[in-house]
Amino acid sequence: MDLDKVAGDITKVLVTPEQIQSKIKELAAQLDAHYADKGVLLVGVLKGAVMVMADLSRAMQIPVQMDWMAVSSYGHGTQSSGVVRILKDLDADLIGRHVLIVEDIIDSGLTLSWLISNLEARGAASVEIVALLRKPEAAKVDVNVRWIGFDIPNEFVVGYGLDYAENYRTLPGVAVLDPKTYS
Ligand code: PRP
Repeated sequence: MDLDKVAGDITKVLVTPEQIQSKIKELAAQLDAHYADKGVLLVGVLKGAVMVMADLSRAMQIPVQMDWMAVSSYGHGTQSSGVVRILKDLDADLIGRHVLIVEDIIDSGLTLSWLISNLEARGAASVEIVALLRKPEAAKVDVNVRWIGFDIPNEFVVGYGLDYAENYRTLPGVAVLDPKTYS
């Protein structure tokens, strides 16, 4: 669905579809160079990361494998405790693998910080993160993210995987949701 179809629900477009696609190509080239000799298992965190995973993995020119996790953070949005429950675990064995977590957004950083320790504890040779978006003002913990697409302000954003009540995920760009849409 194009962004103009939801013009009445959003206040501004923060990252255009063209900016996203150009950044994806740039990140893919950096990842190709970094993982060329060692191979990489891309780990997507459902559901938001589906779009970035689909585009980034196809923009990469080296062979990659993909796996998925679904997690739920207790107290998300109110009192993020950093305690995460696994709803769907990986199928792959991580021993000796180079793992790249693919995320749509880093908000508080609590999910990612838990995920890194969890995947490292399974014997991965390395665990790195690529995230399309990051909200620096929302950070509660420092997460070492090696590849970042865009830093954005701490506003309620939707699109390119990000939802409000499961809507807007399929928008090709990232936009600020008008508060009247959810109040
Ligand atoms: C979002 C996003 C990250 C997480 C980041 O997922 O995809 O996984 O929140 O938040 P944090 O940095 O504060 O931990 P969400 O829980 O909204 O689930 P979804 O991807 O299914 O929409």
